[in-house]
Amino acid sequence: MKKLNGNLVNKINIAVFISGRGSNLLSIIKNSLKKKSFFKVSLVLSNKKDIKGLQVAKKYNIKTLVLDFTKSKTKEKEVINILKINQIKLICLAGFMKILSKNFINLFKGKIINIHPSLLPKYKGLNTHEKVINNKDKYTGCTVHFVTKKLDSGKIILKKKIEVKKNDNKVSIKKKVLKMEHKAYPEAIVKVLSNF
Ligand code: GRF
Repeated sequence: MKKLNGNLVNKINIAVFISGRGSNLLSIIKNSLKKKSFFKVSLVLSNKKDIKGLQVAKKYNIKTLVLDFTKSKTKEKEVINILKINQIKLICLAGFMKILSKNFINLFKGKIINIHPSLLPKYKGLNTHEKVINNKDKYTGCTVHFVTKKLDSGKIILKKKIEVKKNDNKVSIKKKVLKMEHKAYPEAIVKVLSNF
């Protein structure tokens, strides 16, 4: 039992959807293991096998599911069922490189969030760091937002900003933004769950 908004509650189950390295997944897991945390990563879903993120999940004994479900109604139903069985209350996309179906997004309205490596609404989609450098932006950062049908356009939960220095390039910026992401994502999860 944990305290949420002054009330005692069981830890809230969340799922993290990944497609690769899983460094955000790791920061979310580490945060969930803190004494005061009131959420638990109960499921990690990947659309790809043999990715680093799955090893991260396994290291922490978290249930994993490898299923490319976004283009099959039957597989999507399977995922929905597993999310229900595991009483998942929030889905966190962390480097998940697939587009979710309208049906899936509607079903979990307000319960799917994503992290994006730019200060949205600037630079939706891919190659965000390259765009920051090419446009000589003074600032960049990351954004955690709700997932809607429109790519990278849902309501913003929080943003974290960093300054782009003269000697920065897309590699150095990527590294700095990722570090910010690792702080931003757990913070955003707490913010969202506190409003449940
Ligand atoms: C992050 O930069 C995130 O913003 C983007 O994909 C990357 C995932 O990295 N959506 P990781 O797998 O969490 O290390």
